[in-house]
Amino acid sequence: KPGLLSYKGLNLIRNVHKESYLDSLPEIEIRDSDIFVITYPKSGTTWMQYVLALMFHSDELEGDHNKHAMRIVPWIEVEMDHSTTRLPRLFASHLLPSLLPQGLRKRGKIIYFARNPKDVAVSFYHFHNVSRLLEDKEDFNTFLEEFVEGNVFVSSWFDHVKDWYSQMDNFDMLFFTYEEMKKDLKRTIVKVSTFLKKSFDEETLNMIVEKSSFSNMQLTPNANLDTVSPDLFDSSKGRMLRKGKVGDWKTMFTVAQSEKFDKIYKEKMKGLPLEFVWDL
Ligand code: A3P
Repeated sequence: KPGLLSYKGLNLIRNVHKESYLDSLPEIEIRDSDIFVITYPKSGTTWMQYVLALMFHSDELEGDHNKHAMRIVPWIEVEMDHSTTRLPRLFASHLLPSLLPQGLRKRGKIIYFARNPKDVAVSFYHFHNVSRLLEDKEDFNTFLEEFVEGNVFVSSWFDHVKDWYSQMDNFDMLFFTYEEMKKDLKRTIVKVSTFLKKSFDEETLNMIVEKSSFSNMQLTPNANLDTVSPDLFDSSKGRMLRKGKVGDWKTMFTVAQSEKFDKIYKEKMKGLPLEFVWDL
């Protein structure tokens, strides 16, 4: 497995993320219509990629195109030819504000999607065994320590959320959570479409809500890993849509691990005016 590459303090993946391309990213031109979904890994990126694909380029998900959601909403940090992408251009990213195209401070829209870090840790742990790009993890406790220290792909969850949250005013950005979306999918989709200034008739809206439900997406190859290159994922080891639950951490964390995590969380997130509360 290729291992991690530390790029300007952020852990990315060697072979996938090329330094010379990353160096050029801040200068890439941004258009008014560009839409970015930005997340820490395992926070529901695929979910938002799929919703955006349904909202803007749904024909590409099916029929002759038959594209995976992650090809319709590709990662900007992976080198590709952006010129052929239809408008609006849709991008996903795990990067921090300083590494992204700086034009985003004036143009384009950002959807930042965060999730309870304990559920992120559990989802991430399982994902290491499915991804051929990340090292297999045997012991959860060891992984949890690496996660807390930021010694994983995309480094520290705490730094990611803090960095983006505190820079919210510098971008045209909607900040919300996986938990909120789980609680009321339709309400969240309306909120996203209002933010993007895109209106849908009731029938289309209901179609988007229905297609982006966990049960539906789990059955959809273009939201899972089956149609993505087998060089990247071993789909026999697990699915992208694994459980899709809030609070799954309770099946993995011991009481001691949970208490220790809560303490670290409180310390690291101290002083951040977060308007939401995790069910830690
Ligand atoms: P679990 O591993 O807890 O099931 P990402 O896309 O950022 O890698 O995040 C993956 C996580 O989002 C997985 O969590 C996956 O199940 C969850 N997810 C993806 N689509 C979802 C949906 N429609 N509803 C609920 N959870 C979803």
